Amino acid sequence: MAKHHVAATVNDDAVEFLCETEDTLLDVLRDQLGLTGTKEGCSTGDCGACSVTVDGRLVCSCLMLGVEANGKAVATIEGMAQGDHLHPLQKKFIEHAALQCGICTPGFLVAAKALLDKSPNPTETELRYWLAGNLCRCTGYDKIVRAVLDAAAEMRGA
Ligand code: FES
Ligand code: FES
Repeated sequence: MAKHHVAATVNDDAVEFLCETEDTLLDVLRDQLGLTGTKEGCSTGDCGACSVTVDGRLVCSCLMLGVEANGKAVATIEGMAQGDHLHPLQKKFIEHAALQCGICTPGFLVAAKALLDKSPNPTETELRYWLAGNLCRCTGYDKIVRAVLDAAAEMRGA
């Protein structure tokens, strides 16, 4: 069967690719576009390691087909830093040692940014609920929560 032609933007760059009907957005990002920052944990929508935003909405890229990205704006972890300037969330993750193996980290950062973009001053409870779809087997979560709350405060100029 003929492949599908898809045109989208990824981190504000126009991209075009060909994909099979069954290719997930995660497959396309990693295998065709070389954006391997987005991680594959479970492939079943349970771990959040593959989190990206599509038209500003947080999604698991393992649960979305590549063809569904046609005409959409996708943002991945590769678009978070501006050149050499890390996003405040990335800086705070380093400062708070909010990562160990790092597999979950891109997903947490993308998910946390999606929350702060719409809710700059979340409570700890809101944040913990928001991040409930992101699993980490290393950190125990507290350092991640502290890092996000600290970044949120810095971004608000508090
Ligand atoms: S790889 Fe997509 S949620 Fe786990
Ligand atoms: S730092 Fe290892 S899974 Fe989160």
